[in-house]
Amino acid sequence: MEFSIKSGSPEKQRAGCVVVGVFEGRKLSAAAQAIDAAAKHGVSEVLRKGDLEGGLGKTLLLHNLPGVPADRVLLVGLGREREFGEAAYRTAMAATVKALKATGASDATLCLTDAPVKRRDTDWKVEHAVLAMMEGAYRFDRLKSKPPENNKRSLRKVVLHVPRRSEIAAGEQAAARATAIAEGIAFAKDLGNLPGNHCTPTYLAEQAVEMGKRQGVKVEVLEQKDLERLGMGCFLAVARGSRQPPKLIVMEYHGGKRDAQPVALVGKGITFDTGGISLKPGAEMDEMKFDMCGAASVLGTMKAIALMRLPINVVGVIPATENMPGGNAIKPGDVVTTMSGQTVEILNTDAEGRLVLCDALTYVEKYKPSAVVDVATLTGAMVIALGHVATGLFANNDSLARELIAAGENSWDRAWHMPLWDEYQEALKSNFADIPNIGSRAGGSITAACFLSRFTKAYPWAHLDIAGTAWKSGAEKGATGRPVAMLSHFLVKRALA
Ligand code: BES
Ligand code: MN
Ligand code: ZN
Repeated sequence: MEFSIKSGSPEKQRAGCVVVGVFEGRKLSAAAQAIDAAAKHGVSEVLRKGDLEGGLGKTLLLHNLPGVPADRVLLVGLGREREFGEAAYRTAMAATVKALKATGASDATLCLTDAPVKRRDTDWKVEHAVLAMMEGAYRFDRLKSKPPENNKRSLRKVVLHVPRRSEIAAGEQAAARATAIAEGIAFAKDLGNLPGNHCTPTYLAEQAVEMGKRQGVKVEVLEQKDLERLGMGCFLAVARGSRQPPKLIVMEYHGGKRDAQPVALVGKGITFDTGGISLKPGAEMDEMKFDMCGAASVLGTMKAIALMRLPINVVGVIPATENMPGGNAIKPGDVVTTMSGQTVEILNTDAEGRLVLCDALTYVEKYKPSAVVDVATLTGAMVIALGHVATGLFANNDSLARELIAAGENSWDRAWHMPLWDEYQEALKSNFADIPNIGSRAGGSITAACFLSRFTKAYPWAHLDIAGTAWKSGAEKGATGRPVAMLSHFLVKRALA
C-alpha cells in the first residue's frame, strides 16, 4: 500500500473512494459538509432517511453522488464529537479499512485526518491512519494451498487529506516514518505467525541475515561451538532437549556517530516452547509457536529503524532455540553455570525464557550500551495481571522506564510500569546453586524479572513482558507485532534528542 499527503477540497477529489466522517446526531465533519454542499445535500438527505446516525465505527457507502467526481463516498461514524479522542480515531480508521476492503476501490482519499482529535496533531493522525490501514490490510495466507477467495481488487493507494498546505511536508515525514514502522510490524507478525516446523532457530537466523543484507544491518550468527566458547551454559542447557541447533543472532545497526554508545535490544527467541521435561498441558499448546515474538519484535524494530535511516546505533541480540523434552534435555534439579559465572538450579524446565535471556543479557555488556531493553513472552502470570491490553514493564532505571511508557502512549502500544522492589528478590533462594530459575507463584512475572535483574547490573535496563500482548487467541488468532511500534518510537525519540 502506498501513502501520500494532499490538501485541497474534499469534494473535488477524483478517487475510487473519498472517506469522510459523521459525528453522532448525524453531524457532518467539515469534509463531509463540503461534499454535501457539492452534491446539493445528497449526503444529508440519505442521513435523514436514517441510514447512518454517526455511531462510532458504523459506515455507509454511497455511489454516484451528483456533483462529486469520486466513484464512491464512504461515510464513517465518528461517535460523539466531544469524545473524539485517540481510541475513537483508531476505531474509525479500523472501520474504514474494513469497509474499503469490501469495495472494489483500488485507491481512496481519507478525509478523517482533518477531524480534530483531542491532544493530538496532524502528524499523530497521519501516523495512526497509516498504521491502522496496514493493520487492516495484513493477511497471513502463505501456508494455504491456494489464496483464499478474494475477487476484489485490493486497495493500493491511499491519500491522506490534511486541512492546510503548510502541513503537507510534516505529514509526508510522518507517513514515511509510519510506513517504516508498519513494515517492521508486518515482518514481526509474519515471523510470529509461522509455525514451529517452519520458523526454527535456523530460519530466524536466515531471516535476520536477509533483512540485514537488504536494509544495511550487520548480522552475525553465533553457533553452538561459539556459545560453548563464550560459556553460555544456561542458554545451551535449554537447547539440549532439541534436535534443532541453537543460534545467537547478533545484529548491529550503525546510524549514529562512530563512538556513540548503542541501545541494545534483546528478544526471547523460543521457536517452540513445549515446557521441556516440565511438559506443558496439551490445551492451546500450539500457541507456544508465538514464544519467539520477543525476537520477532526485535527483528521488526531493527528493520523499521533501518528503513527510517535513524541516526542512532542499535544492537539487536536474539538467543534462539526450541524448548523440547528430548533424551538429552535438562531435568528439574539440574544446576548449570551462566556466562556471568552465577550458577542456576533449574527447578522447572518450563521457565526457559529467563535461562536463554540471562546469557544474552551478559553478552551485550561488551557493547557498553547506553540502555538495554529485553522483550519476552516470559510469564503466564503477566496475562493474569494485565490481560491483553498493556505490556508489563520492569526496569532498574526510572528514567528509562518513563521513556518507554511515553513511547508506548504515543504509539498506542502501551505498557504499564510494574514494581521491581528488593522485597521481591527474597523469592529467589536455592539450597544448591546461587539462584533457582523460579521464584514464588505469587507475583510470578515480578520474580521472573528479578531473575533477569541479576544479570543486568552493568547498564540501565528495562524488561518488557509481552506474554499477554504479543498475539491474539480465538477466532482472530495471530501475532500482533507488538511492541515494534513502542520500541520504534522510543528509538526515534532517542535518535533525535
Ligand atoms: N512462554 C511461557 C510463558 C507464557 C505462557 C506466555 C502462556 C504466554 C502464555 C514461559 O516460558 C513459561 O512457560 N513460563 C512459566 C513459568 C513458570 C514455570 C514459573 C509460566 O508462566 O507458567
Ligand atoms: Mn516455558
Ligand atoms: Zn516460554
